[in-house]
Amino acid sequence: MKAFAISRYKGPLQETEMPEPKMGENDVLVEVHTAGVNHLDEMIRSGEFKRILHYRMPLILGNEVARTVVRAGGSVSSFAPGDTVYARPRRDRIGTFAERISIDEKDLAPTPVSLDLTAAGSLPLVALTAWQVLIERGNVQPGQKVLIHSGAGGVGSIAIQLAKHLGAEVATTAGGSNADFVRSLGADTVIDYRTSDFEQLLHGYDLVLDTLGGRNLEKSLRVLRPGGKAIGIAGPPDAAFARETGLNPLMRLALAGLSAGVRRRARKLGVSYEFLFMHASGDQLRRVTALVDEGVLSPVVGRVFPFDQTPEALESLRKGGMQGKVVVSRG
Ligand SMILES: NC(=O)c1ccc[n+]([C@@H]2O[C@H](COP(=O)([O-])OP(=O)(O)OC[C@H]3O[C@@H](n4cnc5c(N)ncnc54)[C@H](OP(=O)(O)O)[C@@H]3O)[C@@H](O)[C@H]2O)c1
Repeated sequence: MKAFAISRYKGPLQETEMPEPKMGENDVLVEVHTAGVNHLDEMIRSGEFKRILHYRMPLILGNEVARTVVRAGGSVSSFAPGDTVYARPRRDRIGTFAERISIDEKDLAPTPVSLDLTAAGSLPLVALTAWQVLIERGNVQPGQKVLIHSGAGGVGSIAIQLAKHLGAEVATTAGGSNADFVRSLGADTVIDYRTSDFEQLLHGYDLVLDTLGGRNLEKSLRVLRPGGKAIGIAGPPDAAFARETGLNPLMRLALAGLSAGVRRRARKLGVSYEFLFMHASGDQLRRVTALVDEGVLSPVVGRVFPFDQTPEALESLRKGGMQGKVVVSRG
């Protein structure tokens, strides 16, 4: 089958003829219509995760997908050929920039009936990330104050909508030209990160979703109330993530060491810092599906590329300036 793969880290993403995906008893073979494009694809391509995620080459990139079930393994109970599904496949089974992919049924959910496949394919990775930050880890409650960085981006545009649904008061950072857009998603306070310093304007926040790391994360710690929490999705990684990845003790120590400084500074301020690397979950995705069909969440697709322009789609993400998500489509 036709796929876009790399043959070595830092090598180009190229059209490649690949064998048909292998199917296990719990797997579902999905014909790809739409594959969302994420920074994670570029990070994997460039080898940033090579010590943590051990992939074999050639490696098909792509971390989310929507379309139809072609075949279901013998033990699959929830899906049948013809069902329309979407997923963020688990980390060690990526490869949605392809004609077909085999996915564990636990990672799949039916697509929202209110969405076309292009919109559905843009959603799994960013919606699960927002869900895991705000609900699984953040436990956001009505009336809490939540700061979501990069509100106009793929994760931010969904996180704002979900945080509002949870009853939070939401502040966000965005470029000035995106101010109306993020307000339309529900943000109560919008800060133009190019002209204003959010640290000078915001205080007493319960939770910050940090998308940038570095100085942005350091400043985010200082807008939290005592006991508040910053959850970083751009790093640095923490000890819990190092444990979860099953690395050897030395690597675990090295990985956890990367966030030692920020965790120490957080402790001094009476707040906390956690790193989140989102995980696949069909159960959570089913709840996302329900929220989309209730009109609570709307995916934001910034640009659609044809499948044979997958490398250009990845490149466009590097250039930035997009509202919401970039996707490739075989439709
Ligand atoms: N750990 C995980 O599981 C996980 C999951 C998903 C994503 N991520 C990471 O999260 C980050 C965001 O992902 P994404 O998909 O949302 O990216 P994206 O769609 O490319 O979003 C980029 C956005 O960042 C905004 N931005 C740039 N500089 C900024 C600044 N200094 N302050 C505030 N906003 C700024 C831009 O806003 P304007 O256009 O308004 O200028 C743009 O809308 C990436 O680093 C990605 O790798 C991690």
